[in-house]
Amino acid sequence: MTGPAAPPAEQAVVSVIGCGYLGAVHAAALAKLGNLVIGVETDPERLMGLANGKAPFFEPGLDEMLAETLASGRLSFTADIAAAADATIHFICVGTPQTAGHPAADLTYLEAAFERLLTVIKPGDVVAGKSTVPVGTAPELAERLTAACPEATLLWNPEFLREGHAIDDTMRPDRVVVGSAPGAAADRALAVLRELYAPITADCPLIEVDFATAELVKVAANAFLATKISFINAMADLCEVAGADVVKLADALGHDDRIGRKFLNAGLGFGGGCLPKDIRAFMHRAMELGADQPLLFLREVDAINLRRRDKVVRMVREWLGDALVGRRIAVLGAAFKPDSDDIRDSPALAVAESLHLLGADVRVTDPRAIESARKQSPALSYVASPQEAAEDAEAVLLLTEWAEFRELEPSRFGEFVASRRILDARNCLDGAAWRKAGWEYRCLGRAVEG
Ligand code: UDX
Repeated sequence: MTGPAAPPAEQAVVSVIGCGYLGAVHAAALAKLGNLVIGVETDPERLMGLANGKAPFFEPGLDEMLAETLASGRLSFTADIAAAADATIHFICVGTPQTAGHPAADLTYLEAAFERLLTVIKPGDVVAGKSTVPVGTAPELAERLTAACPEATLLWNPEFLREGHAIDDTMRPDRVVVGSAPGAAADRALAVLRELYAPITADCPLIEVDFATAELVKVAANAFLATKISFINAMADLCEVAGADVVKLADALGHDDRIGRKFLNAGLGFGGGCLPKDIRAFMHRAMELGADQPLLFLREVDAINLRRRDKVVRMVREWLGDALVGRRIAVLGAAFKPDSDDIRDSPALAVAESLHLLGADVRVTDPRAIESARKQSPALSYVASPQEAAEDAEAVLLLTEWAEFRELEPSRFGEFVASRRILDARNCLDGAAWRKAGWEYRCLGRAVEG
């Protein structure tokens, strides 16, 4: 056995396979911590950007961290998997999106990355999977790794970073979870990872579990967060019929620290590249395992969430009348959440598209996501500012709670529109101030006068 019997005492040499959201941040963070990192990325455009210190997406602080670590010589990017042969720790960070037209996770990228990685693996190497995978994936990959190189070891190390907070979540995580198979080889591999993560686990637990638990922690966490959001959105509907206020309800609930106030913001619901696809893949995997019943509630979580989008469209129709053809509507927000340019499964963009299909003259603006939104929904009109979007609009819809939108001054903003109507689908504006400035203000889950 030639593998490292003890944790590396010096700078570790690490490869990161797949430099999308997760991989780019992970690679830069490990380099920042002093390791030598080789990022392997097959998409030529993404690779070119990364090599020049430009993240392929908007993430606060990432460009600066890439520039600094590239300049230090500790970080490099390549398309050639052969470069990963220098590394002794390999992180698999490729995406596992939803399969087109099917709830299951698409493991094509994972398969391809793993096969490529097997060509450079040497005895003693540690392979750590970070991609979100259906439970049961890791043991199968571990078998294939052992077959290709008996003295290399697989670990599963799920990632919990949030877009918009990715650097902080990576450098100061709540916890680090590492799954392994039992045995001496795993113990050695775990020691390697413990050493690598020592600078970031001083203030948080490193939780060592079996493969299945490691795989499940990630999807269970996202299922819980999605459930929390759909719960408060269901409460929002109840508040509307009962004359209650969902924001005050959430505040009151949140003071109970068994519940907590986070992820209790009612509104247009969740989107993005993780929560929606993860709950669907989780339900699908449970069904494959013959255990679909325990997760049936996630179907309702998903349905409550999607109904938020229909509800907003319905509210606009009730407001402006069914004949939306040619009616100008300003849409503030295209990203699935603020501080991100990600439009994957964006509730805001879904609403804008529905209104466009109903014939409305929809003008969308977003501080960061116009470019990505235009690629996905080229038929919509995009403008650079909320004021341009609002010009002659009969209604303004605030669909993503960017600070720029929350800080709009109602009187001045009112000068641009044809009619002072605003739908605050994220419950993030001071309704009283907007009403005082002559706006008809509507929101979700709060019975306010129009
Ligand atoms: C999520 C998980 O939080 C993260 O741990 C995991 O690694 C990846 O998936 P992310 O997709 O970046 O992260 O977004 P998140 O901040 O969780 O928000 C998800 C969606 O929920 C957004 O559309 C957001 O607008 C919505 N949301 C969030 C609400 O509607 N209400 C809330 O109270 C909180």
